[in-house]
Amino acid sequence: MKPQNNEISFKNAAEIAQVSVATIRNWIKTGYLNITSAGNVDFEGFNKFMDEVAGKEKLNSRANKLKKDEHNHKKLSLEIERKIKNTGKNSDKLGNEYELSLSNSYRNKEGIYYTPSEIVKDMMKNLIVDEFTTFCDPCCGSGNFIIEALNIGIKPENIYGYDLDTNAVEITKKRIFNKTGYKSRNIVSVDFLKYTSSQNFADLSFDLIFTNPPWGKKINIKEKERYGSIFGSGKSIDTSSLFLFASLKILKNNGKLGFLLPEAFFNIATFEDVREKILQYKIERIVDYGKSFKGLLTKTQAVILKKVNSENSENFENKIICQSNNKIFSRTAESFQKNPKKIFNFWLNSQSSEIIEHLYKLPHITLENKAKWALGIVTGNNKQHCSCQIKNDYVPVYKGSDITTAGLKEPSCYIPHHFSKYQQVAPLEMYEAPVKIIYKFITSNPVFFCDTQQRFILNSANILIPDNSIGITPQQLCDLLNSRLINWLFKSIFNTHKILRRDLESLPLHTGYFANYQCFEEQTFLDYLHIRQTKEGTYKIVRSV
Ligand SMILES: C[S@@+](CC[C@H](N)C(=O)[O-])C[C@H]1O[C@@H](n2cnc3c(N)ncnc32)[C@H](O)[C@@H]1O
Repeated sequence: MKPQNNEISFKNAAEIAQVSVATIRNWIKTGYLNITSAGNVDFEGFNKFMDEVAGKEKLNSRANKLKKDEHNHKKLSLEIERKIKNTGKNSDKLGNEYELSLSNSYRNKEGIYYTPSEIVKDMMKNLIVDEFTTFCDPCCGSGNFIIEALNIGIKPENIYGYDLDTNAVEITKKRIFNKTGYKSRNIVSVDFLKYTSSQNFADLSFDLIFTNPPWGKKINIKEKERYGSIFGSGKSIDTSSLFLFASLKILKNNGKLGFLLPEAFFNIATFEDVREKILQYKIERIVDYGKSFKGLLTKTQAVILKKVNSENSENFENKIICQSNNKIFSRTAESFQKNPKKIFNFWLNSQSSEIIEHLYKLPHITLENKAKWALGIVTGNNKQHCSCQIKNDYVPVYKGSDITTAGLKEPSCYIPHHFSKYQQVAPLEMYEAPVKIIYKFITSNPVFFCDTQQRFILNSANILIPDNSIGITPQQLCDLLNSRLINWLFKSIFNTHKILRRDLESLPLHTGYFANYQCFEEQTFLDYLHIRQTKEGTYKIVRSV
């Protein structure tokens, strides 16, 4: 049965996947699942994820672990209190010990992942401070950013920290005291979002705000939306975005902000509004730190910006230093601004970014409003329904992995031809269309096949049926989508392993090529676009002499 609005609650998703709700949240946080605007789990993506990824042993064992683990928080708090009292000068390890004694599910629920000191140091390097500089970590945890603020010379009385977690607040205060002898009253147990959205914060502002906010933390959707409308965060209402909007509100003009964020922040559609917001300021640096938190699958990436008014048009020309995979590139805000969904593809050098811009400038069409889309069949239980042998009344059904660059493999799976049994089936006319394009859903290399034999597909593949308005044949479209250039373009812009309809819809398709050529040929296509491939596998514009 298809759920209403194509979404399911977290609880239902957890029941179906047989994991805890915290695990579902973690899968959302790490970009495996998508959240709908109503705060539920996107059903289409969920089914595909279950089919393609979640079955893999590694994730399941991790999920089961998350489901089981627990700790007694009251007892732990008493133990921390005792340790704070009895620890002498060496209190720096307290945060680490506290974090390790929390259960994974609790850490996950509250977003408790303290930032390793190498990352904190790197994010805060080159800051210029004086005796008046004020500093804030809006969710300071055990105080790693705050200790670095002391290290770079900010006075302890000018340092502020907030956190919901009273144990973490006490640890931070103890660390400040041990380092400076100052008993801080500025480290407070408070809900930062509640506080900044009320009037109480109106007169507070800071020169520097550096943190790693909670990512994808569970808050009631109504409350999230309320914060979103107070901070003007549009569709970006994940807690990391809300913390960023709230922090920008209390950052002084010319002040600097550094946030450590999940990879999704830089390339997923739901974060477009927050990307748009930070593009209004002078972004100084973006750094990819890789997978820096044990137990988290996502990469962590930091953005450091200066709050200078965007009316100053020079901002767009300013170079942004981008560090990724030990390489340093320089990019402009404008190059991100022009990307679909304002994606920050900062892992690309400016030459590749120029190619993307060049391709978008040339006459092209996109598939938006020019194609019908459908999902493969969600049986609800592949083990029960799929057979590797053809039987009476069974039909062959193709999987995403059957679609390859060399063509479609022979079928290896068959299902009973009684489609009413299955959980979700697209209208039959989509499968039975005289011509359709099918494509693999989970892959980092998009691959398409033009089917003229009314084949059925499982939900590890999807269907697209182009309208006549695109002006080329489905086979020509399929060849174009399978080109090495489109493959490079897709990876360079979206950097994802999920082939989403909205991403395909924003690709530039230079269909004018077929006005001169019937068949697709890669080199002629590149010549048509005035570009050539480099030895490194990227592209260069061929300048006319
Ligand atoms: C990812 S941890 C980072 C802690 C610290 N900034 C660091 O980088 O080491 C996020 C912190 O946010 C805190 N937190 C979660 N929700 C909060 C809220 N509404 N207000 C203040 N702190 C919050 C958690 O308790 C946790 O300590």
